[in-house]
Amino acid sequence: MTQLPAGHSPADNPRTDHPKALYGGTGTRRITVRDLAGAKERGEKWPMLTAYDAMTASVFDAAGIPVLLVGDSMGNAHLGYESTVPVTMDHMTMLSAAVVRGTHRALVVADLTFGSYQEGPVQALRSATRLVKEAGVGAVKLEGGERSLPQTEILVEAGIPVMAHMGLTPQSFNTLGYRVQGRGDEAADRLIRDAKAAQAAGAFALVLELVPAEVAAEITRSLQIPVIGIGAGPGTDAQVLVWTDMVGLTEGRVPRFTKQYADLRRTLGDAARAFAGDVVGGTFPAEEHTFH
Ligand code: KIV
Repeated sequence: MTQLPAGHSPADNPRTDHPKALYGGTGTRRITVRDLAGAKERGEKWPMLTAYDAMTASVFDAAGIPVLLVGDSMGNAHLGYESTVPVTMDHMTMLSAAVVRGTHRALVVADLTFGSYQEGPVQALRSATRLVKEAGVGAVKLEGGERSLPQTEILVEAGIPVMAHMGLTPQSFNTLGYRVQGRGDEAADRLIRDAKAAQAAGAFALVLELVPAEVAAEITRSLQIPVIGIGAGPGTDAQVLVWTDMVGLTEGRVPRFTKQYADLRRTLGDAARAFAGDVVGGTFPAEEHTFH
């Protein structure tokens, strides 16, 4: 087993020795959005990963990851699409339910999919209610600044916690492309305004994707709610990665902001080739795998 470098275990992080720490704390009940607010008050950093199935989610839950996002990145990372756009609420509901079933402690957040909330607040409420009732998630995430405020307000009013998502919003890649957002004074000011407006509308957290580190740090300092960065530098309260990128399962190029902690693509390929070799060579099944 690989030796983890210092800083990779809860015990190495002085901010995680609080009993209520999101990562490394002693709590076993399911994490709530109130726990995330407590971490912000304590100045504690925390990790979030995506998950799209029960088995992987159970591994991350057992590893102590406090928040799992059933992201619409499942379009690329799990369902074989080229973007997040084709992901439907049926996909999201089924896979979110699997992630909830696979976990005991993590707060499970599900994405509202493209086309499931843009029509307006009532459509958003219908979609989010489905995720809470049928899948059992603890919160939903939706993309957009000002344009998504009425949706945020109605969901919060209905008792559904909302995570906002700004900066690069992959559901809008046809208009935004995949490039850093919030560069330049005007764009940065708009992003900061939108972030504050999402907090005022009741969002419990904000994801900032592909945003200059300085802008993300300023937003993090000026909000009371936790800010989760992806490609947004080290100054945010939390960091999220797409799990298949993080473990080296993704084929081809991954974004520069991703850090690869394992090489599962190679490990799985090696295992498949070893199995195939045993079958072709007649060495599997052996006596210990055989019934008489
Ligand atoms: O869908 C997703 O995985 C996301 C993260 C990149 C934040 O939205």
